[in-house]
Amino acid sequence: MEGSSCKADSFSNVSLRPLDVSDIDDFMVWATDEKVTRFCTWEPYTNKEDGIKFITHYVIPHPWFRAICLDSKPIGSISVTPNSGNFRCRGELGYALAWKYWGKGIMTQAVKIVANTIFSEWPHLERLEALVDIENMGSQRVLEKAGFNREGTLRKYIFLKGRCRDLAIFSLLSTDPKE
Ligand SMILES: CC(C)(COP(=O)(O)OP(=O)(O)OC[C@H]1O[C@@H](n2cnc3c(N)ncnc32)[C@H](O)[C@@H]1OP(=O)(O)O)[C@@H](O)C(=O)NCCC(=O)NCCS
Repeated sequence: MEGSSCKADSFSNVSLRPLDVSDIDDFMVWATDEKVTRFCTWEPYTNKEDGIKFITHYVIPHPWFRAICLDSKPIGSISVTPNSGNFRCRGELGYALAWKYWGKGIMTQAVKIVANTIFSEWPHLERLEALVDIENMGSQRVLEKAGFNREGTLRKYIFLKGRCRDLAIFSLLSTDPKE
């Protein structure tokens, strides 16, 4: 984790917007970094073409995928993936931030923005949830700071990067207090 003298409680220049193919060079900064993908379900990207395919075929059609921007420059991403049928009341939160910007409160701010907008954008959504590797302390802390409830541990829940892992499950309900 990179040290920081400036926490982002004060960053008014953090914003969310759709990520587009024209953002490919910024996307490649975090998407190629093993430090960033360590706890993610995906492997680091190794070439621009695959990055462009991902943005074209996954990000753009995705119902809620946003670039996290600092002064309009994408430095990470955050998404809410919906469910359908009986599970449509819940959506799953995912996020990643370029390493250079870790430890400044930026993801906490981005998650709070999502928490404050997604339930009005999607009135059918009652629960926003996040599944986090038990060893990913920074991500668990982000969710706590953004007001999520830790509900427990899903033991040996996913096989990822060579071994089976325990995940912590967090949720925020539409009726929970928001900051
Ligand atoms: C996890 C991640 C999103 C955090 O983003 P960030 O902008 O650095 O988070 P914030 O600065 O808002 O908050 C991080 C908090 O975790 C704490 N933290 C970080 N690493 C920690 C560690 N190893 N142990 C304990 N606390 C830790 C920080 O001190 C801070 O808490 P504080 O404000 O109480 O001091 C970022 O590191 C990242 O993108 N990681 C790679 C992708 C990823 O893991 N995504 C999540 C998949 S579920």
